Amino acid sequence: MINGFSAYAQNTVTIPIESKQNALVLQTDKDKHLGIIYFGKKLSNANEYQSVPLQSRQSDSNAGIYNSVYTPAGSWNISEPALQVTHSDGNKSLDLVYVSHKTVNENDNVTLTSIVLKDPVYAVEVTLFYKTYVQENVTEQWSVIRNAEKGPVMLQKYASANLYLIAKDYFLTHYNGSWAREMNPEEEQLTAGIRVLDSKLGTRANLFQPPSFSVSFDKPATETEGKVLLGTLAWSGNFRMDFEVDSYHNLRLIAGINNYASEYPLNANQEFKTPSFIYTFSENGKGEASRNLHNWARKYRILDGEGSRLTLLNNWEATYFDFNEEKLSGLFKDGKKLGVDLFLLDDGWFANKYPRNSDQAGLGDWQENVKKLPHGIGYLVKEAKNAGIKFGIWVEPEMVNPKSELYEKHPDWVIKQPQRPEHYMRNQLPLDLSNPEVQNFVFGILDKLFTENPEIAYIKWDCNAITFNAYSAYLEKSKQKQSQLYVDYVKGLYKVLEKLRAKYPKVPMMLCSGGGGRVDYEALKYFTEFWPSDNTDPLERIFMQWEYSYFFPALAQSAHVTDWGKQPLKFRTDVAMMGKLGYDIVVSHLNEKDLQFSQQAVSTYNSIKDVVWHGDLYRLVDPKKNDFASLMFASKNKEKAVLFSYLTGNRNGDGSDVPFRLQGLDPAKKYKVKELNLYPETKTVIQENQTYSGEFLMTVGFNPAVNARRTSVIVEISAAQ
Ligand code: GLA
Repeated sequence: MINGFSAYAQNTVTIPIESKQNALVLQTDKDKHLGIIYFGKKLSNANEYQSVPLQSRQSDSNAGIYNSVYTPAGSWNISEPALQVTHSDGNKSLDLVYVSHKTVNENDNVTLTSIVLKDPVYAVEVTLFYKTYVQENVTEQWSVIRNAEKGPVMLQKYASANLYLIAKDYFLTHYNGSWAREMNPEEEQLTAGIRVLDSKLGTRANLFQPPSFSVSFDKPATETEGKVLLGTLAWSGNFRMDFEVDSYHNLRLIAGINNYASEYPLNANQEFKTPSFIYTFSENGKGEASRNLHNWARKYRILDGEGSRLTLLNNWEATYFDFNEEKLSGLFKDGKKLGVDLFLLDDGWFANKYPRNSDQAGLGDWQENVKKLPHGIGYLVKEAKNAGIKFGIWVEPEMVNPKSELYEKHPDWVIKQPQRPEHYMRNQLPLDLSNPEVQNFVFGILDKLFTENPEIAYIKWDCNAITFNAYSAYLEKSKQKQSQLYVDYVKGLYKVLEKLRAKYPKVPMMLCSGGGGRVDYEALKYFTEFWPSDNTDPLERIFMQWEYSYFFPALAQSAHVTDWGKQPLKFRTDVAMMGKLGYDIVVSHLNEKDLQFSQQAVSTYNSIKDVVWHGDLYRLVDPKKNDFASLMFASKNKEKAVLFSYLTGNRNGDGSDVPFRLQGLDPAKKYKVKELNLYPETKTVIQENQTYSGEFLMTVGFNPAVNARRTSVIVEISAAQ
């Protein structure tokens, strides 16, 4: 991938930013504008990058404009900007020229390149940061914009990253969805002009679209072949990504916070740090690219990403709002009987004046409901302990029902337009987290729970409404700009989470937003896992978990066995076992065999969870293109792997007739295969007394015999001693 450059002078600065496999190379032109001259597979001799521009014939007046490393608006540049400002004197022009750069090795795997650019006329300065995780081939990119003028500068658009990618064609995969329909992929070939992926929903920003995508170059990449970039923005609010195919048919990518209704003031001597845009590139298909992200996320991003997780029993679908102490005590015992680590008490435990007996009231009043729980949370924690199970609890601290004491006491804490009718999602409104008082309130909810009950072992943090009627009484009162609200809300949320983690660094927390309405790598600094969707129909989950797995590792994807769908218990369990296993069923309703199966399943899961959580994922048979799905996890030392297969078609004869190739094994090792999680009194049809070389399994393949009689199959593959 190369790009043209008008003149090549002696004092040209070339900046290669390299990971183990890839390079992003920047170079100055005669006017000291810094452009991207190369993105792709790394060269063994970095000196050769200087010659890249000589190979290009794309050298008309657009050269050096389109490929800007951080496109300024309003001067020589006439294409979609990364940074657009209004200066303190009202002038709207901006130019950015190269000043200096440095690369610091943070440790033997992480390097940080920072590049200073500045406007030659106005005192605005930008530092671009590229943090490279060398072994993982992941780059985290952000910018810091500094106002050194005497008065305030208005940021009109302030992207995190600006890339320039050159190929014959571009195939963008993005995702759409809604409640219980998360992560539907669509792949399209990009054509001339700008394709925007964005969200303007505020709090539950990803309800219709997550900030994650992939772009294949030249042709659509497969799991094992093709050039592909996976990208995601680490920001829990409105985002915007511009994909512009320019007049050279090159791709300009600009990603960051959505500037919609969000012009942001920067006072004299203040800085604005954008969120991180995180990406990886592979020449060997989406499988390798997603393993890059998983390795990075576990090691560097997700809270306790290399650690362990708790299996759990959740009462949401078992009781909804209808429970009391006695019922819950029974459920603790059921959880223990099942063998899971923790019981998770869901919505409905709080509020008295307007009791939380449905989703219509009580949100905001975080005192135990005295009718349901006369002895309080402390009693439940103790009861759970007596039953031999840990205790966790659901909160939705950013929200309020109008029918609540909180709303009555603090109407000015609520995001709503003072002169317009209120508009609700799930009968509720977001609290104004731009307000420090509200931040303290939200922190206080969790702090009180933990202070009073230090043994609370898990939090499910929900967020069920998007932001309508964006308006902050606090910003108004403190004479700040309303257009700060979307950004300051998210900053306020991070302040709360930061404070919470400073005091309670370890407690596992699930990131939930009515399902997967808020899943991103900034939030996952504070959370150990996320809830992909309220839809737990296992057939649907196969597809959803598959798509999420391009960006997030299995240990972060909560997957519960529930009563959704028409599939048998074994199928539902086998699907949940490819993620972080939990249950949301009435254990006492299980017949003897189902209970026996489930107990066995929990203990089987304990024997494979290390591979599922920390191993390498290989997606083998795509359910979108086949009548079954198959994927496997292999331990890093290639000693053990687990293969999951699920029938997704329902036509006569659907299933695996022929072997398909496994991946991630050692060709020279011999492996035994063993079917796991068989339902009581059923037998495997797999020959278990046979060993296979890794070469055989990865060349000839393996057939788990998934079919209408065996709709889900889990096979353990272990190196023979
Ligand atoms: C949201 C969550 C569910 C459950 C309910 C409780 O919908 O996604 O899992 O916690 O809220 O009201």
